[in-house]
Amino acid sequence: MSKRISTAKLRRMATDGEKIVMVTCYDATFARLVDEAGVDAILVGDSLGMVIQGHEHTIPVTLDDVIYHSRAVARGCSKPHLVGDLPFGSYQTGLDDALRSAARLMKEGGVQAVKLEGGEPYAEAVHRMTTAGIPVMGHLGLTPQSVHQFGGYKIQGRTQTAAEKLKHDARCLVEAGIYSLVLEGIPAPLAAEVTADIGVPTIGIGAGGGCSGQVLVLYDLLGLDDRFNPKFLKKFDNLHQRVVDAVGNYAREVRTGDFPTAHHSH
Ligand code: KIV
Repeated sequence: MSKRISTAKLRRMATDGEKIVMVTCYDATFARLVDEAGVDAILVGDSLGMVIQGHEHTIPVTLDDVIYHSRAVARGCSKPHLVGDLPFGSYQTGLDDALRSAARLMKEGGVQAVKLEGGEPYAEAVHRMTTAGIPVMGHLGLTPQSVHQFGGYKIQGRTQTAAEKLKHDARCLVEAGIYSLVLEGIPAPLAAEVTADIGVPTIGIGAGGGCSGQVLVLYDLLGLDDRFNPKFLKKFDNLHQRVVDAVGNYAREVRTGDFPTAHHSH
């Protein structure tokens, strides 16, 4: 039986006021590290399109891409709750497509749950998935797959109307059966209000401290990209500089002949 943290455990944590710690992850090596660091949950996010594949946004990511990375992450860790992201185009084209995509991600990717972006228009798809035994994490607010519709990465839910719509969408998703909800890029008071209102754990990113937990893109919190400095991000290290320094030292020693030495030779 899997020793992974379950959806029920995440719900208990939220009820007990214990913050849920989530990071994104895309490969087995980092999966082992974040497991050792004690994170509660891993999202194999379609942010892989940006940080792994070098795209400007998440739109080009395919279901096969997410399955590939999910399998690697699943092999690398044993304890964190594992969620796979349904990429753009894998669930928007109809209920059957949505169910088929979610089932593939679970069967082939080895994840325990799937995440999808959007509110009321996707409630029926969520219902189909949860009825079929697939736990679904919702995602509202600054949903990156809608970047072109938003006209950029802009904070959502700022007006009264937009806030009311987001709260309505959250309730529709809960009614459809989501077990958790990511709230991204919305005002902190709105995120806190939704969290108090809906009765399932909320996971914030750029949504203040009033959510049941927090998610960050792993490469962002490690400070791997010196060009990415949004207001919501805290960098817990500067791996950009540390990697440049380490690889620079390696290059210098190869060129000077200081590496490899007899110590590193057979
Ligand atoms: O794809 C992703 O990494 C995400 C999180 C940032 C929530 O959706």
